Amino acid sequence: MSANRPAAVVVLAAGEGTRMKSATPKVLHEICGRSLVGHVVAASRELDPAHLVVVVGHAREQVTAHLSAVDPEVRTAVQYEQNGTGHAVRMALEELGGNVTGTVIVVCGDTPLLTGETLRQLARTHETDGNAVTVLTAEVPDSTGYGRIIRGADGAVTGIVEHKDATDAQRAVREINSGVFAFDGTLLADALGKVRTDNSQGEEYLTDVLGILREAGHRVGAAVGGDHRQILGINNRVQLAEARALLNARLLEQAMLAGVTVVDPASTFVDVTVTFGQDALIHPGTQLLGATHVAERAEVGPNTRLKDTTVHAGARVDNTVADSAVVGESATVGPFAYLRPGTNLGAKAKAGTYVEMKNATIGEGTKVPHLSYVGDATIGEYTNIGAASVFVNYDGEHKHHTTIGSHCKTGSDNMFVAPVTIGDGAYTAAGSVITKDVPPGALAVARGQQRNIEGWVARKRPGSAAATAAQSAAPEDAARH
Ligand code: UD1
Ligand code: CA
Repeated sequence: MSANRPAAVVVLAAGEGTRMKSATPKVLHEICGRSLVGHVVAASRELDPAHLVVVVGHAREQVTAHLSAVDPEVRTAVQYEQNGTGHAVRMALEELGGNVTGTVIVVCGDTPLLTGETLRQLARTHETDGNAVTVLTAEVPDSTGYGRIIRGADGAVTGIVEHKDATDAQRAVREINSGVFAFDGTLLADALGKVRTDNSQGEEYLTDVLGILREAGHRVGAAVGGDHRQILGINNRVQLAEARALLNARLLEQAMLAGVTVVDPASTFVDVTVTFGQDALIHPGTQLLGATHVAERAEVGPNTRLKDTTVHAGARVDNTVADSAVVGESATVGPFAYLRPGTNLGAKAKAGTYVEMKNATIGEGTKVPHLSYVGDATIGEYTNIGAASVFVNYDGEHKHHTTIGSHCKTGSDNMFVAPVTIGDGAYTAAGSVITKDVPPGALAVARGQQRNIEGWVARKRPGSAAATAAQSAAPEDAARH
């Protein structure tokens, strides 16, 4: 196998992650829209390995089900008891039939910031140098918890000592084990057979393989990773937040370099699956989640959360929450709108202030400007829906559909009691409860007639401020019986 195509990548994900203090297995915690192990699997995939094996153990049904959802080609190896990282790799090699010839890359399932490019470089260095093992190392500001890289007088790596097993002098070493290795598959299997458990945790440490190979006279190499932030291992929720911030910053940086304006990266949050068109503009306080796409020249935010939503070119979405919605070209949404699944706003359409929509197709240029609920509806083009209208879609048992044509003008405070259809070019009067279909071009009026009872205040509220005001405004009218 060539440097570009390792024989196998093994991802270690059997541990419980006790330091997370969580009912959710550690590797299933999410940052930027993907689980920790999902990030590692995605980076591993970029190497196009012949085999990609994830070692599962703790909560393995849950982890396995998750893996088949995110990458159905992944193989899993079960480690029934978590006897250490070395034991975990043994389980993976057994799953692959025991002897894997060629390069085997091992990564931990809790290092989500690692990129495919870094893994590729490691594999390249490993094969070019003809090493038995190459460990990816980094100098970190705080090495607490990490295994320390021990080098001999000549600078060559002689082994790795775990934090818990390290002497004070060893703990002072700043160069740490990232947990990422490239191995010669055959030598790895051999050395794993020799790993002992006489350490503070009574586990088979994968890191001991380095010392074993070195003593047997094999070449042990280290690739010093340039960016220590990539190898951040998540053991607790402080590190989870740290990793999320780093990945978010990385994603926003990519977007900005590709021509997106992000007004305040510190208060803008994106998932790895979010995409942008050129000159998209993102205001502060915005969260873009899932398969959201913000097209060219569209403007989103401030204070907006969009999930699986497409915002077409030149549209404006302000102070809005949307889920599985489509906002047409040059359409406007908000401020203060809520677009629920199945909302499809046409080009130049408007969902204005305090407007909620669900399962609604709104035609080109149609406006729903103020204080309205549009549920289960189809509205044609260039129609105007009056303020404070409600599409009454639910009879307590079933949902019903409302259809409104093109170029209609519906009055303010209308109730459209579904199922109901309003023809093209029709008008409805303010305050109407529309229960019957309206033919094209008709005016529908559906409200009580107004009745004025004159002189009522003078008779029923004598001496009140209202009576005095009425008396001075129109003495004759106020006294009328
Ligand atoms: C490990 C390394 C340490 C390195 C650090 C980098 C060992 C002994 N130590 O320490 O040198 O600096 O990663 O982040 O390798 N796992 C299993 N089965 C097990 C034990 C662990 O699958 O029996 C998995 C865990 O799910 C996790 C990964 O291996 O994804 C690393 O385990 P963890 O307990 O986090 O090791 P660290 O103490 O961080
Ligand atoms: Ca770890």
